[in-house]
Amino acid sequence: MELQDIQGLLVRAHGELPEAAYLMLSIREVPQARNWLKDQLPQLATGSQKAPDRRIQLAFTYSGMEKLGAQQFVKHGFSVEYVQGMTSLHKSRFLGDLEQSAPENWQWGGTKTEAIDMVWMLFAADKASLESHISAMKAALPQSGLAFIHCLDTQGNPHQKEHFGFRDGMSQPVIPGLSKVGTPENTVPEGEFILGYKNAYDQFPETPVVDPMHDPENLLAESANFPGLKDFGKNGSYMVFRQLTQDVSGFWASVFSAVKNENSEAGIAESVHLAAKMVGRWPNGKPVSLAPDQEMPYDKEKDEGYLYAAHDADGCGCPFGAHVRRANPRDAMPDNQPASAIRISNRHRILRRGRNFGPPLAASFAPQELIEALPDGQERGLQFICFNSNIQRQFEFIQHSWSNNTKFAGLYSDPDPILGIKDSRDKGETHDFTMQGKLLRRKLRGLRRHVHVIGGAYFFMPGLRALKFLAHFSPKNA
Ligand code: HEM
Repeated sequence: MELQDIQGLLVRAHGELPEAAYLMLSIREVPQARNWLKDQLPQLATGSQKAPDRRIQLAFTYSGMEKLGAQQFVKHGFSVEYVQGMTSLHKSRFLGDLEQSAPENWQWGGTKTEAIDMVWMLFAADKASLESHISAMKAALPQSGLAFIHCLDTQGNPHQKEHFGFRDGMSQPVIPGLSKVGTPENTVPEGEFILGYKNAYDQFPETPVVDPMHDPENLLAESANFPGLKDFGKNGSYMVFRQLTQDVSGFWASVFSAVKNENSEAGIAESVHLAAKMVGRWPNGKPVSLAPDQEMPYDKEKDEGYLYAAHDADGCGCPFGAHVRRANPRDAMPDNQPASAIRISNRHRILRRGRNFGPPLAASFAPQELIEALPDGQERGLQFICFNSNIQRQFEFIQHSWSNNTKFAGLYSDPDPILGIKDSRDKGETHDFTMQGKLLRRKLRGLRRHVHVIGGAYFFMPGLRALKFLAHFSPKNA
């Protein structure tokens, strides 16, 4: 793969750089913005280098692309989801962005906030370096033709845990051109995540193409699908960004009261057990499918390729409705043999690159301390970021058809127990979480939503050649 042309965040999560911030910007003066882009190019992190102290990445919403001339130079091929964005009424219903999570209530990217054209992502080794680079960037904005809209902070996370207290970021697809090792079942073709390479259908993904007359310097690669045209998308990817708040006290209080309702003697251990079944992993990351009754040591080498069909087809280890089993059913899907289930699952994979924001409710992230901590009124959650080459078939499918689907895998009224779907209920409607059992299944009724959306947008993260093309594009050639 052309690693030197791929932005680094697609290749690695920049985990060695614990500090990060994302600046949401608007393009005000196009010629200055193009010059600024030219200056940024040598500073951008690529897949072939690992700068030790600071890495920058850039991505654009469709409105940003339009300002930089996309309507003139792109013949066709940007995805409809990217062009339309994630805030229409139809999309909100589709994604479950309802009530409190509706785009009209968002802090950025919503229907009542200023339009975002691009995101400048900075990863740094320490807070001082992060802050000094952000100050320098902000000071240079007026001359750069850009305006500052919003800054999204993140929280360094030495425990690698999301705010509910569960280890996160382990299960990722293995991409042959990028990752070193992985099981065949977890190996997914490059083109599922990066444009310009073959996808799971053995085809090149849809990609924005350009008439060569707009590329007099011959910066772009030839299109594989359309001979004679240039490929603006090559080595780029669609980046889904959703800022999700997590009500940690509310989550654990509801889990704790659910186990108390069943057995008044029950306490912390039972709460952790129930919450682990909802996630599909124990707090230390051990899949509940491999350790159904109690937390066991997590072994990345041995555990990560785990499958469901051979030993957990009935959901008695990991419930069908658990967050991770919905988000990636692996080899177990109703009415499918394991091989075809894998094939289907792997057509709906995403490459996750999210980070926490806000202080942890308890510094240790230990469930016992999270349960015992008093609500502190602070905003915290996940800057959910994922890459895919087909937003509709990958991110949106997982969100809509698996996570939000109350009838998933033969269930009846069960949405994703971690993400939830609605704050209020229509008359007679309940949301449940079902745990399959050998003799009796267990049902937790009256599930509440503890994760809300407060911002979001679809971005495109171009390859380096495409960025250079953007910086040099001259509308007079159009
Ligand atoms: C605040 C919200 C969220 C929390 C707390 C959360 C938490 C987790 C945790 C603890 C894991 C297990 C760790 C791992 O497998 O790496 C996980 C896995 C995963 N999550 Fe989420 N998640 C959230 C939002 C989402 C969203 C919005 C999506 C996509 C629509 C998603 C998709 C996935 C996927 C694909 C996996 C990997 C499943 C697998 O391959 O086994 N998550 N999540």
